[in-house]
Amino acid sequence: MARRVGVVGLGYWGPNLARNFDELGELGALCDLDNGLRERFAVRYPNARVYADFGELLADDSLDGIVIATPVTTHFQLARRALAAGKSVLVEKPPATRASEMEELVALAEASSLALMPGHLLLYHPGVWKLKELIDSGQLGEVLCMYGNRQNLGKIRKDENALWSLGVHDLSVILHLLDEEPSEAIAHGRDFLNEGVEDVVFCYLRFPSGRIAHMHLSWLDPHKMRRITVVGREKMAVFDDMELDQKVTIYDKAPESAPTSYGEWLTRTGDVFSPKIANDEPLRLECEAFLDLIDGRGDARRVARDGLSVVRTLERLQASLDG
Ligand SMILES: NC(=O)c1ccc[n+]([C@@H]2O[C@H](COP(=O)([O-])OP(=O)(O)OC[C@H]3O[C@@H](n4cnc5c(N)ncnc54)[C@H](O)[C@@H]3O)[C@@H](O)[C@H]2O)c1
Repeated sequence: MARRVGVVGLGYWGPNLARNFDELGELGALCDLDNGLRERFAVRYPNARVYADFGELLADDSLDGIVIATPVTTHFQLARRALAAGKSVLVEKPPATRASEMEELVALAEASSLALMPGHLLLYHPGVWKLKELIDSGQLGEVLCMYGNRQNLGKIRKDENALWSLGVHDLSVILHLLDEEPSEAIAHGRDFLNEGVEDVVFCYLRFPSGRIAHMHLSWLDPHKMRRITVVGREKMAVFDDMELDQKVTIYDKAPESAPTSYGEWLTRTGDVFSPKIANDEPLRLECEAFLDLIDGRGDARRVARDGLSVVRTLERLQASLDG
């Protein structure tokens, strides 16, 4: 089945997407405003057509999907134009900076039976799939809470704060793992380096089920951390993307009520186990998932609506941050 894609935005991230679609044999076209970038990538991908103008890219009838890797502020407008032109869209995170805009994109996609896939890379990470499997199969027992750590010293951004730049990753995972939207979303943070751009953000989420989550997002930190911790009543699990081999660790640790005296808690510490996690490149899996959606495989409606939940929650957290 024909399902050629065109990649727009060949700055830092777009070339990774172009490489993967090329390796999958589905790269049909490239587009960037920058002349030098167009020339460089035309040489690397001689079989792809190259456009300077997004409108011309959309007019290319051979393309079924458009992959948007331009700056965040352009995502909504470009995605809307692509959907209106009848193309499925994979748009880098976040697809929109307002829930109302994301709702519009979801409605457009659903009305035209097109895929609208946010580039939530971690949702295609085999380590996150393992966490989901551990939770859904009940191996951790009842899940009580989870938290994400996404910290480092740098890359200091001026156009997006730590909530939108870093938090979008953890939030997409937390909402996916818990499968519900928070009833409470509170964020605190400070703009230490660039006025109005929070570089340190702490978030608290409480869900209708009573479960709670936290995110520490910062590019002002001594630790480089990319970690999600899940605490269940029976076991606890950690996904650590900084680890090379042991991406997921399961701790057979839990509180237990003392059999002899009512109301007292003891703790149990058992084995620590690290299951094998496939070494597949998450971006490759994300690109394959987009091609599947174009082909009508997978739940396109769910993927788009999950993206809406993320933007909606980010908007609530931002409102809390603004106080
Ligand atoms: N999933 C991830 O892990 C991840 C990692 C890095 C970046 N990203 C996302 O990728 C996106 C791009 O980030 P980046 O760091 O590559 O940005 P960048 O500024 O390096 O590149 C953006 C490119 O888009 C081009 N562009 C802008 N408007 C255009 C238009 N209307 N038509 C054609 N070309 C246009 C620019 O010329 C530039 O070359 C952002 O949304 C970012 O959040 C995702």
